[in-house]
Parts: sequence; structure tokens; C-alpha cells
Amino acid sequence: MSDARPIGVFDSGVGGLTVASALAARLPAETLLYLGDTARLPYGTKSAATVERYTQANVDFLERRGVKAVVVACNTASALALGRLRSALPVWGVIEAGAAEAAARSRGRVGVLGTEATVRSDAYGRALRRLRADLEVESLACPLFVPLVEEGWLDDPVTEAVARRYVTPLLESGVDTLLLGCTHYPLLAPLLARLAGDGVALVDAATAVAEQVAGELERRGLAARTKAGTDHFCVTDASERVERIAREFLARPVALELVDVGGAPEGA
Ligand code: DGL
Repeated sequence: MSDARPIGVFDSGVGGLTVASALAARLPAETLLYLGDTARLPYGTKSAATVERYTQANVDFLERRGVKAVVVACNTASALALGRLRSALPVWGVIEAGAAEAAARSRGRVGVLGTEATVRSDAYGRALRRLRADLEVESLACPLFVPLVEEGWLDDPVTEAVARRYVTPLLESGVDTLLLGCTHYPLLAPLLARLAGDGVALVDAATAVAEQVAGELERRGLAARTKAGTDHFCVTDASERVERIAREFLARPVALELVDVGGAPEGA
């Protein structure tokens, strides 16, 4: 049996293309329907109530478009909104998968990097401690990383100085694992690996969730056997900047459909 319906992937913007890429690499037979809520980005600085409302509207939109399951690629939305989400579909966020991989790899002390909202929620900390009560977790908001990545400054002295300032205290405190708890951070992995050195494992929630989704689709009889369609990318605001960033994240040009998800008015 093969279920050819697409998997919905939702993010606050185009950063979640890191998760879409990880899904495409792990599940080449699946078709993806991506939604980036670029009109209301960023989520990482917003309150839980607002992120919940936006997330519900985005998941409802993907459901109306006929997806078979939803992956909430946005770490902030996964951290703040997953618990209260109403959907008839299977919905997976990135927190559990990222935390499971970090808990499996850590020797005892995990540093979690994320947006202000993700860190404030302590969703990763709670998930990590649930999995391994002995783990020490230190979380740090890195709000400058998202704009630096979106600027394309991945290997740049300014980004290196910012990263050094953020992660040095964590490294000095003895973390042995850094959990990259934001859609954009996998693009900084080479730089962070260089700063952290060989003794520190880098865990990326994007790769971890792709592995989890592969297992869940099989288990629920929802997997596709051959790729039946082409991946499709929707955004709620399609500026030239968004197109450029999407191109850089995917390393190829991409057509973006401008959509109105309805539900929660912008800025409300
Ligand atoms: N996608 C968000 C996350 O993973 C980062 C960008 C934002 O703040 O909306 O947390």
C-alpha cells in the first residue's frame, strides 16, 4: 500500500526548509507541501498565545490542502503550540526528536540553543530531563543567529564573533552536546563545530525529526512507495528577500505560491 498524499511541513518562514531538506533526503518517495508563514515571521520573539493561534491557522490550512500528516518544523511553534493544537491528522514537532537524539548522545551536560521564546518555554529542557533525569541542561537564546543566517553570513567574522560570545560560556561550563534548537542553526553547524571542538557533539533537530517521521509513517501505514508528485512551497508573503533566502537554504531556485491561510489576522 502506498499513500501518495503529501506531508505538510510548516515553519514561521523559510528556515524550515532545513527540515524539508532533511525529510526529502530521508524520505525520497514522499511529496512535501511546505508552508512558510513569512508574513508573520518571526515567531521567536512572540508570546505563546500568538504563536498558538498562528500555528493552528497554518495546520488548518495544510489540512484543507489534503496533507496526510504535518511536521511542525518551527522549533518555537513546536515548543509553544503543539500541546494545544487541534487536528485530525498526525502532527509531529521537532522537540521530542531533537531531545531524544541529544539525550542518547550526551555524556551528561547538554547546551540548548534556540530563540527567546523556545528557551523561555524550557520545552527542550523538560523533554531532555524526562528522557534522562541525570542530564544537566543549560539553555541559551541566540536571537542574533536568525538575522545573520538570513543575511547569508554563514562563514563570516561577524557571525563568528557573535557565535563565540554566545557559546563560550556554555562550552566553559562543560557542555558535551550542543542541541541546535532552531530551524536556522543547522546552517551554522560548521562554524559552531569549529568553535566547540571535537569533544562536543552537535545535534540537529531537523535530521532527528526526519528519522522519527520515517518510522511513524511506516507504523501508521501512511508511507509512500514512489514519489507521485512534486514538492510545493507556499508562503504568506513572497518578497524578493524571501525568494533569495529560500534559494540559499535549498541551494536551488524555487517557485513560491503566495497564500492566505486565513484564521488569525496579521499582527492580531
Ligand atoms: N523558525 C523559528 C524557530 O525554529 C526561527 C525563526 C522565528 O523566530 O520565527 O524557532
